[in-house]
Amino acid sequence: MKSASIIVGLVCLIMNSLLADETLLSFKQLPKAELHLHLGGSFPQEYLFSIAAADQREQLACFLDLISQGVDYHRGFQVFGLIAQIVNSEEKLQNGVSWLCRTLEEDGVQYVEIRTGLKDLGQGTEEYLKAVLRGIQESGAGKSFKLKAKIVLSLQRSSSAAMVEDTIDLALKYRDQGVVGIDISGNSALGQIDQVMPHLLRAKREGLAFTIHLGELPDEADQMLLLTQLEPKRIGHGVHLCDEAKEWILRHQTPLEVCLTSSVLVKMIADYKLHPGLDLFRSGHPIFFCTDDPLLFSTTLSEELLRAHQLCGLSIVEIESLVKESFNYTLQ
Ligand code: IMP
Ligand code: ZN
Repeated sequence: MKSASIIVGLVCLIMNSLLADETLLSFKQLPKAELHLHLGGSFPQEYLFSIAAADQREQLACFLDLISQGVDYHRGFQVFGLIAQIVNSEEKLQNGVSWLCRTLEEDGVQYVEIRTGLKDLGQGTEEYLKAVLRGIQESGAGKSFKLKAKIVLSLQRSSSAAMVEDTIDLALKYRDQGVVGIDISGNSALGQIDQVMPHLLRAKREGLAFTIHLGELPDEADQMLLLTQLEPKRIGHGVHLCDEAKEWILRHQTPLEVCLTSSVLVKMIADYKLHPGLDLFRSGHPIFFCTDDPLLFSTTLSEELLRAHQLCGLSIVEIESLVKESFNYTLQ
């Protein structure tokens, strides 16, 4: 009797795993838009390992292992310093972007907005941007394969006025060559956005669209300032929004970029099912799924959709419709 129930249990396990494989395959085949992805957290692991020194490989492996078990939000940011040390030249950056685009294409992503903060890898920030653009071109995106890749330039609440000015100048200069908007990200507990707001408003006046990380931490005092001044086209995460911000987003029907695995692994939420974006979705508010940092969270967009189905209870039809809708929320 006992062995019969073990066999039934095993059969159920195998059936479920076959079903999951099949569903994942169907999500991979779905044409998808990836609208929240940070370059620094998305270089393919194999690529980073191939260019890193032995001690960097070891440190990166330790970091990824730590994150896979759930990491404190603030501690999680330390990994980006290591990644920046590994990708330390324009050539490595270009190759990494190219590799990333091929990986996204394999996952069935047909449109991606890659976010990245400008850096000086030796030849200045404009050369950084040009290397990213060359990486996209070199990958064959938009030519030999379907993926279309655009760039969103990232700023942080702690960015200096000079950095904000430089980023906006380059965003405007390269607007016709693939830059589609500005992202505000980074550790939301650091910096004061009001100090650089006049510069950000120039970008808005020039017609650049914003997407803003909001509600990663519960005590962000600048939520309403960011919303009312910059009127972002999309919101990243939106987990801990104050009542006023929630009301603003509902009134403006601002779509939410939901990154399930990221939110769980940096302990923004205690469980996949508890992401507030799911309730917003059920009430008819626009949301869509994204990866945030596929390297860090060891995920793909198709796997995020599988989690939305298996762990959050969204039906396949609902997910297919969300994915289709997401193409309407690009920044360009
Ligand atoms: P990069 O701008 O291409 O170097 O990508 C890495 C940067 O993205 C990090 O230094 C952070 O500023 C930002 N980033 C990545 N993941 C997150 C997140 O979950 N929350 C806020 N910022 C993030
Ligand atoms: Zn993010």
